[in-house]
Amino acid sequence: MRLTVNEVLLICAVSFFTAFVWIWSNVEDKITINTGNPVIVWWTTGFPSTSESIKCESDVKCDVYSNRDIEKNFEVGAYLFYASNIHFEDLPLPRRASEIIWGLYHEESPRNVQELLHEPTLSLFNYSATFSRYSDIPFPLQYLDSWSDIVSKEYFVPTAKKNSFLKDLAPILYLQSDCETATERDSYVRELMKFINIDSYGACLKNKELPQKFKDDYLNNLNDNEFLHFIARYKFVLALENGVCEDYVTEKFWRAIKVGNVPIYFGSPSIKDWFPNNKSAILIQDYPTPETMSVYIKKLLENDNLYEEHLMHKTKEAISNNRLIEELSERPYQTDALNVAGKFECLICKKLHEKKTRQLKIRVVNKNHYNCPKPVSALTLKVNPSNDWVYLWDKTQKDAEVIFKRVIQS
Ligand SMILES: *[C@@H]1O[C@H](CO)[C@@H](O)[C@H](O)[C@H]1NC(C)=O
Ligand SMILES: *[C@@H]1O[C@H](CO)[C@@H](O)[C@H](O)[C@H]1NC(C)=O
Repeated sequence: MRLTVNEVLLICAVSFFTAFVWIWSNVEDKITINTGNPVIVWWTTGFPSTSESIKCESDVKCDVYSNRDIEKNFEVGAYLFYASNIHFEDLPLPRRASEIIWGLYHEESPRNVQELLHEPTLSLFNYSATFSRYSDIPFPLQYLDSWSDIVSKEYFVPTAKKNSFLKDLAPILYLQSDCETATERDSYVRELMKFINIDSYGACLKNKELPQKFKDDYLNNLNDNEFLHFIARYKFVLALENGVCEDYVTEKFWRAIKVGNVPIYFGSPSIKDWFPNNKSAILIQDYPTPETMSVYIKKLLENDNLYEEHLMHKTKEAISNNRLIEELSERPYQTDALNVAGKFECLICKKLHEKKTRQLKIRVVNKNHYNCPKPVSALTLKVNPSNDWVYLWDKTQKDAEVIFKRVIQS
C-alpha cells in the first residue's frame, strides 16, 4: 500500500490531534477540574492514588485528589492521612481547626507509627478509618478475605489424618521471622517448647527447615495454595500478634481459621468477639503459664472429640457468633483497602456538605479509635518495663504532646 503526501499529512494531523486531546483531558482531569464540589486531598503520598469526582450516597459529590499541589488552585475542605506514611514534621499547617477537617486512615500495627498510640496525636483528627469497631469507618475484619474461608474445607485436614502426621510433625506450628516484639512472643514460645514439641520454621526459634520449594521466599508466599496445604497438616498454630490493640486481628488468626488449625492466640484483648464459635481459638490469656497451656494441649491430643470442639466452623460448618455475622453483612467493604478508602472519602464528603449547611457537629478522634494500651508480655501477662517497645510507648507519649501543641498553636 502506498500513501500520498496528503494522506500522510492527514494521518499525522489526526494523530497529533488525538494525542493533544488525550494529554489535555488528562491535565484537565488532574489539575483543573473545577466542579465547585468540596475538595478532599490525601496529604500523604503512596495510598490511594486518585484524582476524581466522587458521587456518594444521597447524590453527595466531592473532588478527591492525592496530589497536594491542588491546594494552590482550590480551597481544600479536608485533608486525609494514610497513617503509615505520615511525617509529623510535614503537615498542612496552620491547622485552621474550625475550617478544615482532618481524617486518619490507619490499618497497621502500632509499631509502625508510635506517635499515634497516644490520644494527643489522635485528637488532631476529626474522623478515622481504623480496625477499631469504634472508628467512623471500622474494619476489624480486614484480614478475613471472605466469609466462605471460615467454613470452607478446601485446606482442612480431618483429625484422624492430622494424627497420622504426628509421626513426622510436632502438634504445634510456629512460623515467625520478626522476633523482637512488644508482646514478647518468642519468650512465650521458648518456654512452651520446654513442655511440648513445636515445629518452628521461621527465623525465630528455628528448629526445622522448610521444604526447598518454600524456602527462598516463604514470607511472600504465605497465602499460596501449596503453602496453605503444608501448614494445614498441623493441629495447632501459635498466633501471637506483634502488638496489642483492641480489634487488631491479623492474618495469623484468620489464616489458621481458614486452613483449620486451632490457633493458640495472643493479641487483641477482645478477640473472642470475632470468634466464629465460642471455642475457635485457645487464648494464652486464659492459661496462667506455658506449662498449664501445655497440659491443656496434651489433653486435646489425647481426645479427638475435645479437639474438634475447637473446629466447629469446619466440622459442622457452624458460625454461632452473631456479631461476626452482622459485621460481615453490614460492612462487606472492609476486606479491601481501596473500598475502605472510598467509604472514608464518602464519609468526609458528606461531612463537608453538612458543614456548608452548618449542620456539622464537632467531632474529634479519641483513644477508642486506635486503642493500643502499653504492651503486655505474652509470657508474664504483665508489662515488662525493660522491653524496648514499652520504652518507646512511654517516650512517644511525650512526643505526642509536643506534636499536639505545635499543631494546635500553628
Ligand atoms: C458455646 O456455644 C455452644 C453452642 O453454640 C453453647 O451451647 C454454649 O453454651 C456456649 N458456651 C459459652 C461459654 O458461651
Ligand atoms: C476537628 O478537630 C480539631 C482538632 O481537634 C477541633 O479543634 C475541631 O473543632 C474539629 N472540627 C470539627 C468540625 O469537628
